[in-house]
Amino acid sequence: MSPAFVLEVQTSREEEELVESHEYHDGVKHLCERGLAKVPRKYILPALERPFMSKKDGATNLKLPVIDLAKLQGPDRVHTLKSLSKACEEYGFFQLINHGIASESVLNMFQAARKFFELPFEERSKYMSKDQSAPVRYGTSFNQNKDSVFCWRDFLKLSCHPLSDVLPNWPSSPAELRQAVVNYSKETKSLYLMLVKAVLESLGVVEKAENADENDSCDHLKEFEDGSQLIVANFYPSCPEPDLTLGMPPHSDYGFLTLLLPDEEVKGLQIQHEGRWVTVEPIPNSFVVNVGDHLEIFSNGRYSSVLHRVLVNPFKSRMSIASLHSLPFNSMIRPSPKLISDANPRRYMDTDFASFIGYMASHEHKNKNFLESRRLTQQG
Ligand code: OGA
Ligand code: NI
Repeated sequence: MSPAFVLEVQTSREEEELVESHEYHDGVKHLCERGLAKVPRKYILPALERPFMSKKDGATNLKLPVIDLAKLQGPDRVHTLKSLSKACEEYGFFQLINHGIASESVLNMFQAARKFFELPFEERSKYMSKDQSAPVRYGTSFNQNKDSVFCWRDFLKLSCHPLSDVLPNWPSSPAELRQAVVNYSKETKSLYLMLVKAVLESLGVVEKAENADENDSCDHLKEFEDGSQLIVANFYPSCPEPDLTLGMPPHSDYGFLTLLLPDEEVKGLQIQHEGRWVTVEPIPNSFVVNVGDHLEIFSNGRYSSVLHRVLVNPFKSRMSIASLHSLPFNSMIRPSPKLISDANPRRYMDTDFASFIGYMASHEHKNKNFLESRRLTQQG
């Protein structure tokens, strides 16, 4: 590379730095609307954290284990539960097919979210909030109050429980958004409950779904029914220099299970598997489901909440809708007593949402550091 060329690159990066620092907080889409040719310095990861550092990373696409909900609910349940258990142990992720949610509901949810991101900035920005527990939050990056390097994502987060309390806070524009989210959140909640029953059964915490109400685990199920739900619409604008930044940094999800609808046309989600980053190949009409920190704790470490991240690309923007589920906000999350024994001692301390939110507000979220802070013994 000639010295003259290097100089030219540096100069054009400096021109971009005319962006005022508060503007990063207005979101990546807003920034891109000015026509960026370079990634501003605020988004440039240290060399070792960039997405294509190792030749092995992303070299292969991963076929995640596939779980068929129709089989899970039918005569093949026992066999399917074994596959579910293996997927949660070995990958922390699976793809769910035949999930039974009407494609119209999914389409309406995507369309409403897309229209929200297309609103004029002034309209979207009404919902910006620094309060991590606000029932509606439009924002950017991963944890914009703490991130030293920003990531290439804008989001809309909507709390969904209890619906009557939160609904009046949701955006009133686009007009169809509230109804689309109400329908979608109800459908994903019942899907989640079916999956939770299967997960409890696969862990041996509940004997059989039909008997669940008759044994002492019914309290668990009630707690799950009354649990928290957060819908997150993620928007990743196309990026002029995708090898310098990430749409989302490596992270684990905090809840019990996340039901993710990835963009069917644009890949980007990568999970860490056997020590390398692998790209998830979307399957049409399916969900990507993953184990969160709370399920890792509840299962006393048998199921793992696996690190994942999002790549961006120079050609197309990408959207995904995540539905994050856990216990009620004031519940304690702890290893199930049935999964603790002399041979398998308790591995995590009790934790609750308050401590989680407190942790998130006061630390830069890196990898699985929240879960590590709850760990009692080193896994050997
Ligand atoms: C998330 C997440 C992945 C994606 O929202 O927590 O990991 O593909 N999303 O957008
Ligand atoms: Ni995630």
